[in-house]
Amino acid sequence: MKIIMLGAPGAGKGTQADKICEKYSIPHISTGDIFRANIKNNTELGRKAKEYMDKGALVPDELVVDLVVDRIKADDCKNGYVLDGFPRTIPQAEALDNALVALNDKVDYAIDVEVPDENIINRMGGRRACVSCGATYHVVYSPTKEEGKCDKCGSELIIRDDDKPETVKNRLNVYHEQTQPLIDYYNGKGILNEVDGTMSMDDVFAAIIKIIGA
Ligand code: AP5
Ligand code: MG
Repeated sequence: MKIIMLGAPGAGKGTQADKICEKYSIPHISTGDIFRANIKNNTELGRKAKEYMDKGALVPDELVVDLVVDRIKADDCKNGYVLDGFPRTIPQAEALDNALVALNDKVDYAIDVEVPDENIINRMGGRRACVSCGATYHVVYSPTKEEGKCDKCGSELIIRDDDKPETVKNRLNVYHEQTQPLIDYYNGKGILNEVDGTMSMDDVFAAIIKIIGA
């Protein structure tokens, strides 16, 4: 099963992608997590990506596309994967389509998690992220058992640099301009499904399971 998660920053793409991947034992491919891991390890890619991410801008397509296309060719992707945060522009979506055609493959579902902008800023303020394993928490809606420590791997949690309210506003603008057009793109391909992302995490997950089948 090959799934693309669409939705604004903070809509819950990562949260739901984790749940889907756990249930179906398929890899969760988050371009944001890949960049954050590279920033943490101070790689060249990380240094380049950070320039854009800190401003809430998109990293240039040429730094993203090959990375994802290589990743989906890996052995662990044979039974499927969830793409979270990719594609994010029409050229990225077209590049993915071309790569999949060459592999004689296709995406099964594009799931758009819909959350209005007003709800997003509030969510981002409470988000805590594990920079080691990518797990995401919220101080109110999804707290960890021990404050400041990841439930999954025990590493320290951080507040993401791009979760400052000003940067979040910029990310929302970038989303509306560059990523929202993908909703029409995947609708045109007949694989778009929308879920109401303002519900509780479990209810959003139940709605997704209904779409992709138990
Ligand atoms: P990325 O890491 O992908 O960030 P994003 O798309 O802005 O999305 P987020 O990760 O912020 O939100 P999410 O939808 O995953 O929500 P989450 O589940 O965490 O990208 C970061 C940056 O990297 C980009 O700005 C860009 O610069 C660069 N980048 C990445 N991919 C790129 C690409 N393809 N091309 C170019 N540049 C790229 O949930 C948010 C919070 O809400 C959490 O605290 C969570 O616990 C909570 N929450 C989730 N669901 C619910 C719920 N139902 N109710 C209450 N709280 C909830
Ligand atoms: Mg995310």
